[in-house]
Amino acid sequence: MRQTREAAYAKINLSLDVLGKRPDGYHDLRMVMQSVSLCDQVTLTLEEGERLKLSTNLGFLPVDDKNIAVIAARAFARHTGVDLNGLSIHIDKQIPVCAGTAGGSSDGAAVLRGLNRLFETGLSREELARIGEEVGSDVPYCVMGCTALAEGRGEILTPLDPLPDCWIVLCKPGFPISTPELFRAIDGVKIRCRPDNGGIMSALKAGNLRAVAQRMFNVFEQAMPAKRQSTIEEIKNVLIQHGALGACMSGSGPTVFGIFAQQNQAELAAGELAGSYAETFVTRPVDYRV
Ligand code: C5P
Repeated sequence: MRQTREAAYAKINLSLDVLGKRPDGYHDLRMVMQSVSLCDQVTLTLEEGERLKLSTNLGFLPVDDKNIAVIAARAFARHTGVDLNGLSIHIDKQIPVCAGTAGGSSDGAAVLRGLNRLFETGLSREELARIGEEVGSDVPYCVMGCTALAEGRGEILTPLDPLPDCWIVLCKPGFPISTPELFRAIDGVKIRCRPDNGGIMSALKAGNLRAVAQRMFNVFEQAMPAKRQSTIEEIKNVLIQHGALGACMSGSGPTVFGIFAQQNQAELAAGELAGSYAETFVTRPVDYRV
């Protein structure tokens, strides 16, 4: 029996801009991504056996070919020719589901990294990221991790200077968001405000946490229904009142996060939000390339 374990880290969007719709139906994006320490654990076990098996700690997740971990494993097998019979994947999920924090994409990326190790196929991170493009738009970023500018569909990646160390409060409101629906909604919205991606990248270069946090912006917030926007704003207000340097929605939402220089302020904000929103976490930036 051979076994390997990979941490699948969540991500936040320090910014998200939608530049326009493409002929292939996807949208061109420009966004600054950051990995955080909140993670799922993905365990891959190879034994004598007949077929690929998947299990998770959450009963409501699919464990068939619809799960992105299985889609990633099959893509890896197509590219490398390895035999997936006898492979078991177990995912211990901690990242909230359908939250805009790349939980699924990160599991898919962890499967690609883990299979590369398990089968000793020796692919580079860049090669794994290219396989990830077939699995989902955020998967290439999740293969690479850390702080990066993502462009195109999300697959054109430029590493950036790391976010200075800080505490990040994540808070997922209870309502669901459909990513394809939100993309459709933004096609019908006149985008009035866009993130200052250049300013964020300069602030990262200067190691200026406050200047990064003050520039965080996600155009999807403008495409949410008014009722949802007010919940997002309420969470942001709680974060700012507790001393967050900035607050923003992540990805296609609905998770909202705040960036804090002080741990005690982050803990107090999370304590208050947890009273209304069970899926509230205090986390930190992480660099998993090293
Ligand atoms: O690539 P992924 O399967 O994660 O994308 C989910 C959906 O999000 C797509 O079907 C598409 O509707 C939308 N999307 C998009 N443009 C992107 C990424 C995703 O329109 N760059």
